[in-house]
Amino acid sequence: MLNSTLEPLSILALHGPNLNLLGQREPGIYGSLTLAEINRLLEQEGLKLQAKVFPMQSNHEGILIDAIHGAWGQHQGILINPGAYTHTSVALRDAIAGVNLPTVEVHLSNIYRREDFRHHSYIAPVAIGQISGFGCQSYILGLQALVHHLRSIQA
Ligand code: DQA
Repeated sequence: MLNSTLEPLSILALHGPNLNLLGQREPGIYGSLTLAEINRLLEQEGLKLQAKVFPMQSNHEGILIDAIHGAWGQHQGILINPGAYTHTSVALRDAIAGVNLPTVEVHLSNIYRREDFRHHSYIAPVAIGQISGFGCQSYILGLQALVHHLRSIQA
């Protein structure tokens, strides 16, 4: 992974609704790091993996969909925490399927240990995989998994 001849990758890191409140939002569930701190960790991990991470957050479904459309031709993969849209948004799922970019879904909390309505993800069937329940580490693991996948399909 540290081979300097590797092609640099470009990754869109998308954060959905209410994740701008991280740090103050239900810290017992989501931890105490802010979104800016998580983005910094992602960017640092990206440096090690030779992947540039472009973070973006929105509380609006349409803006997230536009960002996914815009990723086509700009980024090689998408790391996404869709927040509550995980459980509601056919449109977000269709956007990911439409651009057909390798996508990894991440969640800070373990959505399967929580309320029943969080047990279903519309995103999971169009993602390479899902990482859920490891706090901010879910993002790091998700980035590693995405880069590993992208390197394996490049080879
Ligand atoms: C979340 C889990 C979702 O159920 C919730 O709506 C969120 C955050 C997580 O990261 O654990 O906003 O995606």
